[in-house]
Amino acid sequence: MPVAVAIAMTMTFGWMLGPGCPHRGDGASRDKTQWDRVATKKKYFLAVVSPWDKGVVNPLGDAIKAVPAHRRGAAIDLGTGIGNGVPMLARGFGRVVAIDYAPKMVAAARKRHGHFPNVTFAVADMRKLARYRNRFDVAVAVNSVLLPSSRDVTRMLQEAFHTLKPGGTLFGVFPSLESEAYIAMLTFEREHRNLNNEQRAWARTERIIDSGRIDFIRGTVGRSAVQQKFYFRFELIRRLRLAGFRDIQVGKVVYPWRLLDDPQARAFRGNPGFWDWFVSARRPAAAKTSPTPYQYPKRPDQRALISAP
Ligand SMILES: C[S@@+](CC[C@H](N)C(=O)[O-])C[C@H]1O[C@@H](n2cnc3c(N)ncnc32)[C@H](O)[C@@H]1O
Repeated sequence: MPVAVAIAMTMTFGWMLGPGCPHRGDGASRDKTQWDRVATKKKYFLAVVSPWDKGVVNPLGDAIKAVPAHRRGAAIDLGTGIGNGVPMLARGFGRVVAIDYAPKMVAAARKRHGHFPNVTFAVADMRKLARYRNRFDVAVAVNSVLLPSSRDVTRMLQEAFHTLKPGGTLFGVFPSLESEAYIAMLTFEREHRNLNNEQRAWARTERIIDSGRIDFIRGTVGRSAVQQKFYFRFELIRRLRLAGFRDIQVGKVVYPWRLLDDPQARAFRGNPGFWDWFVSARRPAAAKTSPTPYQYPKRPDQRALISAP
């Protein structure tokens, strides 16, 4: 996928895979159905380039370990999927709620991890989390903020913010748009080396990458019915700030090249892997920086434009 994303140029399920893929969807019900289709461990790891796969450098474990004792009361896993993050959260927090809007995902997560007595599973949409407000020390969203509509992304980030108690922390993994450009660059270099002809190398790169599926303005990857949101780093920081978060830190989840769905990817070995963004962001202890849910601020916070982790 990120969505989180081996640019799965060949698609097992008829949609585009990428780091963090198949993160996608253009509408609520259709997405749920698509996700439901991969709600077994085997299908899931075939379809998704996942931060939970072997050989992936994922900072989430260390981040969870570093949560102080007084912030280990409750955690929520937003878009839990088949529950890959549940064991870590169940061991680290007093209570855990794991939600997903795809019922078969929730059923699969419950089947795999229902033996943890401190975990509750629920079907719920990250755009509507009123019942979970102000309850959690930590919220986790691993490649689940994927809906391509800007309004949906805004809602999901605001809702994640409001699930947190003041002072609580969001740990998130988000598909990286820069990573798509990076893979395209390495692909061009390889093709240029092989063909020794720039024009033909660009043409082949565009074909391999299927460049028409990447929209760098909207920040979406995929074709009409199966698009998913990818993020520029600056965009992610800005969106998190506008949702009310502060103390935003951005790192990377780094994938090994064998997870890229390109048979020639071994040519990329020796270069740093492709990546998703890893984010830690805090809900301030003073609640006043939170904008009204679902509203863009009338006067945007100028600091959002210059924020750096
Ligand atoms: C790529 S999977 C990631 C699952 C899990 N977090 C993991 O890392 O293995 C994305 C999950 O997000 C869920 N999802 C996407 N949009 C959602 C929404 N609006 N509300 C709840 N779940 C959502 C999907 O159903 C899917 O299970």
